[in-house]
Amino acid sequence: MNRNRMNLRKLLVGAALTVGLGTAGNLPAFEMGAEATIDYRQGVMRAIGGNVASTAAIVIDGADFGDNLLMHVRYLVDATKDIPSLFPEGSDFGETDALPSVWEEPEKFAERSSANHEAALALLEAVEQGDDAVIRGAFRDLGQSCRSCHEDFRHRD
Ligand code: HEC
Repeated sequence: MNRNRMNLRKLLVGAALTVGLGTAGNLPAFEMGAEATIDYRQGVMRAIGGNVASTAAIVIDGADFGDNLLMHVRYLVDATKDIPSLFPEGSDFGETDALPSVWEEPEKFAERSSANHEAALALLEAVEQGDDAVIRGAFRDLGQSCRSCHEDFRHRD
């Protein structure tokens, strides 16, 4: 990491701490860290969910935004690369819907994550090739692989 990026990092960490102290009152530091981690990963999951919803509107319902399809699918490929890294030790309590199984069965969790990433890559390939039926099939497989992780690792709504 070069010097400028180090300084920027310090600045951002300083700003985050200031904001955190302002809003989180007297929570212990580790709890603030866990809350920020949980907020961050839920934000990523919602972004994944939003990109899936937009993709569905295009490939299933025929919304006239085909030019944006690659953008949505590229996000899905990037964001699913390492889902377990969003679930570090100590981020298992508080306002989270993650089940304890995330930390109790890390290998299974990692497998579900890589299957999901593979499904996103397959969808990207299908979009690049441009066959609508193949795209729809790959999209359904991706949705199925999201659900198969949620079934075992996330509280039901
Ligand atoms: C490897 C497991 C795994 C995969 C794969 C996965 N998720 Fe999740 N997802 C979770 C867990 C665990 C949570 C709960 C996180 C929390 O509350 O801290 C979650 C939460 C969510 C949420 C709720 C976020 C919020 O507002 O709290 C949405 C939406 C979501 N996932 C969508 C998706 C979609 C769409 C996919 C597939 C493209 C996907 N997820 C793939 C494990 C996974």
